[in-house]
Amino acid sequence: KITPLVPRTRKEIYETLIKGLQRLEYRGYDSAGVAIDGNNNEDKERFIKLVKKRGKVKALEEELYKQDDLDAKTDFETHFGIAHTRWATHGVPSAINSHPQRSDKRNEFVVIHNGIITNYKDLRKFLESKGYEFESDTDTETIPKLIKYMYDNRESEDTSFSALVERVIQQLEGAFALVFKSIHYPGEAVATRRGSPLLIGVRSKYKLSTEQIPVLYRTCKLINQKTLFLRTKITNVKNICNSQMKRLDSSTCLHAVGDKAVEFFFASDASAIIEHTNRVIFLEDDDIAAVTDGKLSIHRLERSASDDPSRAIQTLQMELQQIMKGNFSAFMQKEIFEQPESVVNTMRGRVNFENSTVLLGGLKDHLKEIRRCRRLIIIGCGTSYHAAVATRQVLEELTELPVMVELASDFLDRNTPVFRDDVCFFISQSGETADTLMALRYCKERRALTVGITNTVGSSISRETDCGVHINAGPEIGVASTKAYTSQFVSLVMFGLMMSEDRISLQKRRQEIISGLKSLPEMIKEVLSLDEKIHDLALELYKQRSLLVMGRGYNYATCLEGALKIKEITYMHSEGILAGELKHGPLALIDKQMPVIMVIMKDPCFTKCQNALQQVTARQGRPIILCSKEDTESSKFAYKTIELPHTVDCLQGVLSVIPLQLLSFHLAVLRGYDVDFPRNLAKSVTVE
Ligand code: F6R
Repeated sequence: KITPLVPRTRKEIYETLIKGLQRLEYRGYDSAGVAIDGNNNEDKERFIKLVKKRGKVKALEEELYKQDDLDAKTDFETHFGIAHTRWATHGVPSAINSHPQRSDKRNEFVVIHNGIITNYKDLRKFLESKGYEFESDTDTETIPKLIKYMYDNRESEDTSFSALVERVIQQLEGAFALVFKSIHYPGEAVATRRGSPLLIGVRSKYKLSTEQIPVLYRTCKLINQKTLFLRTKITNVKNICNSQMKRLDSSTCLHAVGDKAVEFFFASDASAIIEHTNRVIFLEDDDIAAVTDGKLSIHRLERSASDDPSRAIQTLQMELQQIMKGNFSAFMQKEIFEQPESVVNTMRGRVNFENSTVLLGGLKDHLKEIRRCRRLIIIGCGTSYHAAVATRQVLEELTELPVMVELASDFLDRNTPVFRDDVCFFISQSGETADTLMALRYCKERRALTVGITNTVGSSISRETDCGVHINAGPEIGVASTKAYTSQFVSLVMFGLMMSEDRISLQKRRQEIISGLKSLPEMIKEVLSLDEKIHDLALELYKQRSLLVMGRGYNYATCLEGALKIKEITYMHSEGILAGELKHGPLALIDKQMPVIMVIMKDPCFTKCQNALQQVTARQGRPIILCSKEDTESSKFAYKTIELPHTVDCLQGVLSVIPLQLLSFHLAVLRGYDVDFPRNLAKSVTVE
């Protein structure tokens, strides 16, 4: 009674691939490409249709829709297409350098790749010496050439596709997530990874009606164990059936039926596939996943063969609407306005406001070890590093431990000494940033305890660390990080609170901070209500070339983060200046023309900030001041003020950064730039 499988049209396949690419565009967007099986032509020779285009995914889509055979059904019962959006690392953005990369002019093998192949020069030299001709400047092109070499030199006619892939990756050094396609194995997919993320979405091809489900269940019962898909047991189906007959997920049944009833989606990020399925398998390093004849199998590279290759299907809690823009004009704007909820999600189930306790489940088993450590080292890049700077002081105070904050790249450049009694934190929204990941591996080698603070469940950093905290800010799509920063901030403060639970001398302070956390969401809403005022300020500033942001103490990080936001999306020069350093150099920049924003809060640095303010106004500077509502002093000297609600000193930075996020957003819009896709930047920097 279930509708039989119908081969899809070319258009349907393209649409699925293009949509997936669009959801991934935030990872890089200088060019894009797609490959699908072509129709068999007259003499039955197979071919792969390869279309690549420089620019955004939209440009690729337009190119595809120029083709005249879009409505044709493809010839294969199971069909497999691949697509990629690129952010250049080797070779300029161009169609030829974009992916899929191919083995030869016949497209015998095509490959898409995320990551970097570090030994590509040696491989290229070897392959060129064997007569293989290269057409691009990419490191990736060595991969399809190498698999063709393996194919040309295979010992037997029936060497499988995945056996070839296995041989290829044994030769590769660096980081990669790869998906292969070949005319010699039509409709088959092989994917593998090492160091770059890759997951497989699983979806039944049919939507079953509630009447069909029990029928299918009875059929399942008749089918013997061989057809079970990935260890989904019939007993599971039965249990669910009994308890929730009406709500039984049709794919659960179909897994039991197995075979071609299931569709697979390979992707480097769940957002590319979430509209099709929320059931995913995260691949591990050196897994080789193959779909042959509609069935998925996963095996391990020979050298890791002893590891268990079975991978559980996980259900993601992320919904499509979470990754859509809603009523906002840009993801970044939406994410700024989500902060009242995202900080609540970060604290949910962790902070007990009643009895003033904090419990981070991912750290509780390691708490003793952390308390005994020599020092805390907090490592990150960009905005994530700023979250560490912002919380360093309160962590020193609450943990009573020395705290080092480190930029991952610099930390590695210095070969920083790390000891086994150090505790190293890795802060990363994506959980995939190459520098941070390398720093993590460096610390692991030295046997330090490693803690991940990430926003991406299943990411490399969250999996490779000994323990950690998911910040639960929800997917962040705008390249400029906003809600992840405030959630990282809150997570680190929660960690400090958990560490200090037993310290009698710190109870009053803890109480004050926990009350601050409680009122944070309401206060964020109040700050967001200043949006119009900030827009007006942007109207005054958007033609400027430069913008300085100055502050100290708890708000130094706000200045660094505000300046980073401004430079990355408005392309204005902007600098976060430590007010204590003013007279050691930056004061020379101040005059009537130079726009300066000063962050002056009612905290222990207030008087010192007033001094800085005097120094600026004495040079005819016209400061725009971010200050507390009750501060009547600073406003006397201000050219303009933005007044913020007052909270406990160590949380003030969560509030003071928001006007700067909003300002950078409005400046970028007024300057006519694409806020979510700033030039030269990608959301997830998976190369060093
Ligand atoms: C700035 C920004 C970057 C990232 C940095 C680290 O808005 O987004 O500076 O913060 O690339 O990325 P994650 O946090 O993913 O490790």
